Amino acid sequence: MIEFKHVDIKYGDFTAIKDLNLTISAGEFFTFLGPSGCGKTTTLRALVGFNIPASGQILVDGKDITRESVEKRQIGMVFQSYALFPTMTVYENIAFGLKVRKLPKDEIDRQVNQVAEKIRISSQQLKRNVAELSGGQQQRIALARAIVQEPKILCLDEPLSNLDAKLRISLRSELKRLQRDLKITTLYVTHDQDEAMNLSDRIAVFNNGYIEQVGTPYDIYNHSRSEFVCDFIGDINRLEAAMLSDINRQTGASLKENLTGFIRIERVLSLEKPHTARLKGTVEDLEYNGMLAKYTVHACGQTIKIVEKNDGREFFRPGQEIIFYISPDDIMQYQ
Ligand SMILES: Nc1ncnc2c1ncn2[C@@H]1O[C@H](COP(=O)(O)OP(=O)(O)OP(=O)(O)O)[C@@H](O)[C@H]1O
Ligand SMILES: [Mg+2]
Repeated sequence: MIEFKHVDIKYGDFTAIKDLNLTISAGEFFTFLGPSGCGKTTTLRALVGFNIPASGQILVDGKDITRESVEKRQIGMVFQSYALFPTMTVYENIAFGLKVRKLPKDEIDRQVNQVAEKIRISSQQLKRNVAELSGGQQQRIALARAIVQEPKILCLDEPLSNLDAKLRISLRSELKRLQRDLKITTLYVTHDQDEAMNLSDRIAVFNNGYIEQVGTPYDIYNHSRSEFVCDFIGDINRLEAAMLSDINRQTGASLKENLTGFIRIERVLSLEKPHTARLKGTVEDLEYNGMLAKYTVHACGQTIKIVEKNDGREFFRPGQEIIFYISPDDIMQYQ
């Protein structure tokens, strides 16, 4: 178990992290999510030992490690830039930490081969120079190099961000499989909400040095606790007073008309359901990608996005009237 207790982290006069409190369970895949500069890397580096907090404590299994040396912590880390040794072979890169620990040669050999198998690096690839490998392959080696040390905790700072979209998705599922097999407590940093939702048991959403919300992907998406979280994680519509008032009138709900209402775009329905308001608008624009049609619609004096799955019917065209339904239960509001 990892605990951050009232942790402040400063760079000179600048406080990057303010009073951070967080508990991560053993075996969890836990993600720090947030926009650039919000303090994700700073927090992760404090756990690994590269940043020492100005105040507060970091505990691992009840033991205070706030000021312990990096080497003693037994935490593996993979950085955004893989930081491999370019003149060494793949084998030598993976074996590096074990050599530093002066393990016997045959033991190093056994462990390197075992990890290579887990991470699907062939014996051919082990002999190659890392400079000859693609980005995705290098990222795999970086991961193997961290895992071979059998760390208690694995920290990954945007490990997939240098890769193209397809490779990112395939490495993402490998990473998930590996973490499930090894059951290693994993802290993952990303600013990609899709990646966070896909990989994590729980997510902490960071904003400007604070945590806005901690929860499962389901919670964070469906019960966003603040406007920031709601907006950062997924596509939303902002509903203004006129539309909220119409929804209240039709359903007897008591949405606050002086506050903006937020609704996920896929919760604006094209088919009627019980306890929904029936609303009318005009299609202004259509984005179509084969699977989905995304409409921009003018209704109640505002713009709203509606997304519809391709069910074989003709799509609506700009200028056409469209009927949609909204349940007040799907609307989130914040003070
Ligand atoms: N070495 C440093 N010296 C001074 N300020 C720093 C240093 N490292 C980070 N900061 C500042 O601390 C804040 C948090 O930075 P951090 O690197 O933790 O952000 P991040 O969430 O990891 O962002 P990104 O997604 O861009 O990697 C930023 O305002 C940044 O400018
Ligand atoms: Mg960072």
